[in-house]
Amino acid sequence: MNFERNIIVTGGAGFIGSHVVRRLVRNYPAYRIINVDLLTYAGNLENLKDIENEPNYLFERADICDHEKMSRLISRYNVSGIIHLAAESHVDRSIRDPFTFACTNVMGTLSLLQSARNIWEQSPDGYHGKLFYHISTDEVYGALPFDSSLFTESTPYSPHSPYSASKASSDHFVRAFHDTYGLPAIITNCSNNYGPYQFPEKLIPLFINNIRQGKPLPVYGEGLNVRDWLYVEDHARAIDLIFHKGTPGDTYNIGGFNEKRNIDLVHSLIAVTDRLLGRPQGASLPLITHVTDRKGHDLRYAIDASKLQRELGWTPSLQFEEGLERTVRWYLDNEEWMERVTSGAYENYYREMYADR
Ligand SMILES: NC(=O)c1ccc[n+]([C@@H]2O[C@H](COP(=O)([O-])OP(=O)(O)OC[C@H]3O[C@@H](n4cnc5c(N)ncnc54)[C@H](O)[C@@H]3O)[C@@H](O)[C@H]2O)c1
Repeated sequence: MNFERNIIVTGGAGFIGSHVVRRLVRNYPAYRIINVDLLTYAGNLENLKDIENEPNYLFERADICDHEKMSRLISRYNVSGIIHLAAESHVDRSIRDPFTFACTNVMGTLSLLQSARNIWEQSPDGYHGKLFYHISTDEVYGALPFDSSLFTESTPYSPHSPYSASKASSDHFVRAFHDTYGLPAIITNCSNNYGPYQFPEKLIPLFINNIRQGKPLPVYGEGLNVRDWLYVEDHARAIDLIFHKGTPGDTYNIGGFNEKRNIDLVHSLIAVTDRLLGRPQGASLPLITHVTDRKGHDLRYAIDASKLQRELGWTPSLQFEEGLERTVRWYLDNEEWMERVTSGAYENYYREMYADR
């Protein structure tokens, strides 16, 4: 079958990547979407069960750091677009093991940039119709005070955690490849995502699961840190739009216009989860346990996404209350998914299946 375009999505078995893959596979039957993922602990092909047999979907198990293999894949499939999400993504893990973050996020991105550049430069039409789209985070900008200031696209980078330092570094390499070699590249920096299929080391799925099981809800410090939250499908919609309409060489901030203090988010989660489980209001409040604050915990992140709104007409489609309700309902309805993730069953199944790839 001949496809109009072949697009690699790296990290497509992860949380955000699986939503991006699903959206592109469904909305663009003329494209072949090649999900390239190493299947680390965070990669779970069960996130894509509903589209895995679609004729325009393909999975390739590969490490983005494997330069030869990534070059082969870009060549073999005549890839004209790369949407790069593969990364180590959990701040707490980066504090314990910064090296892995530098390897995957920095060296992996650099290696992938080099593969794309080499192959595209040598292709008959050069960079024409090609795009390297790098997905990054608002955490690269550092921390904001508790006032009305927002991160804009021109806020200077000031990362504090090993995770954000590694993402900032990868952003710089992407920009450098654009400025030095003319590689058509776009970077987007997005705030915290929430929604279905998120690995339950992250606050929202972890807490929903703990509330369900009556386990403690560990809140860092007083829970006063502020984050902006965006429903993951709204992020996937922004990525789709920017991939097609964004200007190469540009950066866009993506956010939910939805700041929450951690403690308020936890209260909302308890209210919705208790209600959906038919428990009395506030029944799970005693599960809140304040624990020692995260090292270097940034006070506040908040995104100004007005450039994206102004230039490409994107705004979040879902109100936070509705997004949270949908999310809690999804995790409660998909207990088996949660069970297989927390027990590790998903890893063994797919790792064995793709062991020789
Ligand atoms: N989750 C958020 O709130 C958020 C917000 C802004 C930006 N981001 C960025 O979006 C991207 C995706 O985040 P996520 O939350 O979906 O992450 P995730 O941890 O859920 O998924 C990461 C995926 O990358 C894969 N991967 C890891 N190392 C790899 C390697 N060496 N080669 C190939 N694949 C590899 C994993 O198997 C996994 O499927 C990341 O780049 C992250 O920095 C995330």
